[in-house]
Formats: sequence, C-alpha cells, structure tokens
Amino acid sequence: MTVVARPPLDGGSVLVTGASSGIGRELAVLLAARVRTLVLLARRTTLLEELRDALVARSPGLEVLVMRADLSDEREVDRVVSEVRERIGLVDVLVNNAGVGDQALFDRSDWERTRQVLLTNVFAVAQLTALLVPSMVERGRGGVLNIGSGAGLTVMPASAAYCASKHFVDGFSEALRADLAGTGVVVTQVCPGPVDSEFDQLAGTVGGMAGGPPQFLRISAAQCAKDAIAGFERGAALVFPGRAYRIAMMMAPLLPRGLQRLQAARGAVRVRGETAGAEMSR
Ligand SMILES: NC(=O)c1ccc[n+]([C@@H]2O[C@H](COP(=O)([O-])OP(=O)(O)OC[C@H]3O[C@@H](n4cnc5c(N)ncnc54)[C@H](OP(=O)(O)O)[C@@H]3O)[C@@H](O)[C@H]2O)c1
Repeated sequence: MTVVARPPLDGGSVLVTGASSGIGRELAVLLAARVRTLVLLARRTTLLEELRDALVARSPGLEVLVMRADLSDEREVDRVVSEVRERIGLVDVLVNNAGVGDQALFDRSDWERTRQVLLTNVFAVAQLTALLVPSMVERGRGGVLNIGSGAGLTVMPASAAYCASKHFVDGFSEALRADLAGTGVVVTQVCPGPVDSEFDQLAGTVGGMAGGPPQFLRISAAQCAKDAIAGFERGAALVFPGRAYRIAMMMAPLLPRGLQRLQAARGAVRVRGETAGAEMSR
C-alpha cells in the first residue's frame, strides 16, 4: 500500500503564484499563519507589498518575499526562480495558482490573448514544476498544489484555449502525482467552479462562463482557499471546493461525453447568435 504524503506546510517555505488577488491571495493569507517563508509572486507588486505588510503585521516571525514576474515569459520564470533560490534557498511547496481565462469562440478569439492563456496556465505551470520539484524529491518531502478548474474536466463552449489549458492541468497533476508516488512529494489538483475574484472581469465571463455551472454554486475565494488547503493536507488527488459544487462534480462523470458535446455545441451556437446580434445592433 502506498503511504499518502503530506505537504510540509508548517515551518516550510511556500511559493504562491498569482498572490495579488482572488484565490491566490486567500491561499497566502491562510498559509501565512503556518509557514516560515512565503513567496508572493505576480505582476502587480503594489498589491503584493500591501499583502506582505498585512501578513507580517499579523505574524511577526514570518518572512515574506515579494517577487514580480510575468509568468507568460519563459525567461522571467527562470530569472525569478534563480532569485528566489538566492534569497531563501529551496522551496518546500509550490502553489501553481496564477491563471487567466478568455471567453471567446475560438475562430473569433484574439491570438495574443490565447497565447497568454496557454503560456500562463500551461507552460509556466510545467516550467515552475520542472525547476522546483527535483530538489523536493531529493529531500524526500515537498508539495505541489495546482489550481485547475471544473473546465478542465469537461467540454465548454467559447473557451477552447482556457478549457484545454485546464485539461492540461488535470492530466499533468494526475501524471505528476503518479510519477512522484513514494517520493514524499504530494501533488493535489483543485478544480473550482465559480469563485468570486477578478477572474470573470478579466476573462469576459461576468455572470459566469458560458455553459458553466449554475451561479448558486458560486463560493468566495476565501472558502475556495480553505477547502484547497484542507484537501492538500489530506494528500487528496482532487479537490472540489464548496459543498454543493462538490456534490454536483461527484455526479458529473455520470454525464456521457456525447451529452457534454451536445450541451457545449448548443452553448456555442447561442454565443455565436448573441454576438452576431450584438454586432448588428451597433
Ligand atoms: N474565479 C473562478 O471562477 C475560477 C474558477 C475555476 C478556476 N479558477 C482558477 O483559479 C486560479 C486563480 O484565479 P482567480 O479566480 O483567483 O482570478 P484572479 O483574481 O484574476 O487572480 C489571478 C492571479 O493570477 C495572476 N496572473 C495572471 N496572469 C499572470 C502572469 N502573466 N504572470 C504572473 N501572474 C499572473 C494575477 O496577478 P497579476 O495580474 O498581478 O499578475 C492574479 O494574482 C486561476 O488559475 C483560475 O483559472 C478560477
């Protein structure tokens, strides 16, 4: 029987990507009470600095490092990891949380936005993991917490790049977890449904993603972070934050793929009609 590893959060060093807002910010708030060193990474350093000051005021022994990096730039990722190593040494736990969405029919999507989605949600996740996990395995302890999405477990309309990027997170998390079995490094994937954050505004999904779960399943970013950490600590492979959403997602595999395809196609036809209507009335 394989012993389930536990992530070394207490007294450890944890790097959280996308800590400037939403789920990442709330993960940082919860982790601050327990870890020795917290690395907060995002592009908006003013927000990270404000968060750092608030966290240190509450936990005076805590070391907080603010790191600016654009994760859609491979060289920036290399640079920031080297800098983190120089300043705090090895990272015990990596939280791959940063992510962006883009609601658009693929034939009408903007390539630059698609590129951002893929580089941030896919490439940076793999790159950070490749840079930080080997030393965890060498030490026989560590953790990777990947924030995926319910979109990574199904087919959704008008979000091909985002949906596919989260399918990557699903496959990557499961395969990485298998690869690291018995090494002492735990890998957990969190697949949230609708969560209050800046995500919808930036992705153009205000009111919820087309074809996404109903809005009554929406939870706060704080609740999402709390359930994510609880699942990570249990060594769970997959976490669905929020009670009602968890029940809904446990039944989701009962929906045949053919039906998912049909629903997604109907949703896309609706979006195409709505956008054509909006263009005509301009
Ligand atoms: N909210 C939802 O309904 C929902 C549902 C399912 C899954 N998720 C996933 O949850 C994760 C967190 O999203 P959220 O809801 O908390 O959204 P959010 O409030 O928009 O936060 C996204 C974070 O990612 C960072 N980020 C984005 N692009 C970046 C880049 N190129 N380089 C560095 N950092 C970057 C942002 O920081 P800066 O802008 O400061 O760089 C921000 O801190 C994402 O992976 C998202 O896909 C969200």
